[in-house]
Amino acid sequence: MSTAIVLAAFGSRHKNAMASLTHIVQRVKAAYPDLPVRVAYTSKTIRGHMKKAGEEVDSVAAALDKLLDEGVTHVAVQSLHLIPGTEFHELLGLANERVLREGGFHRVEVGFPLVAGEAGIDEVADAVLTIAEQGKGENDAVLFMGHGTKHDGNVYYEALHRAFQKRDRSVHLGAMEAEPGIEAIIERFRADGVKKAHLLPFLFGAGWHAARDMVGDSATSWKSRLEQAGIECEPMLKGTGEYDCLVDIWLSHLHDALRRMDRC
Ligand code: CO
Repeated sequence: MSTAIVLAAFGSRHKNAMASLTHIVQRVKAAYPDLPVRVAYTSKTIRGHMKKAGEEVDSVAAALDKLLDEGVTHVAVQSLHLIPGTEFHELLGLANERVLREGGFHRVEVGFPLVAGEAGIDEVADAVLTIAEQGKGENDAVLFMGHGTKHDGNVYYEALHRAFQKRDRSVHLGAMEAEPGIEAIIERFRADGVKKAHLLPFLFGAGWHAARDMVGDSATSWKSRLEQAGIECEPMLKGTGEYDCLVDIWLSHLHDALRRMDRC
């Protein structure tokens, strides 16, 4: 039995996003010093950009092909996504196919993304709340900018928002591509009389979306929208992969995937 780990990130070309990936790769290598650790990007678009720039990164399928050629029989594929959406479900399909195909792996186990479905909501909400409380004044609000998705997995963003609100009414999770969007959040801030908001990305890395959609100079960025509404905005450009309390959760999912593999 020869085992390897593949870390499957959405991917980014933005230099500020690398801090998250570098951090989690370091933590995984420290936790499993005897296992090869490979990084793969699930986004075809990002891989295309990387290739054009001469910085090619493997897809998960390509990383698995290489490991199979090297004689690896068991692989833990750890999703570095935030919620079980399109990318995570594609990993499950790929794992299934690479075990069932002729000459495939003995086992491919996929680790849950940060939010391990409905059962994982409370754990993530508790950890995110400790981040939200850092440097927060008594009357401040904290707003996390999530991505949002058209996939059914969007229910996890909504569930997280409710879980934040249950713990602290001043902590919110909005989404760029789903509800509640910045419009609804600003309405809520007005109703609550919020004067100052801490703005953070709920994205794996603080890359392009954080730079453009969260704090960009354009009138439509979340920072601009808040300021137009007369709300002072204090942004924090740190991706979720930079916080140890959240990386601990990803690592526990990887640990579970490796433990499942040890069962006959
Ligand atoms: Co996007």
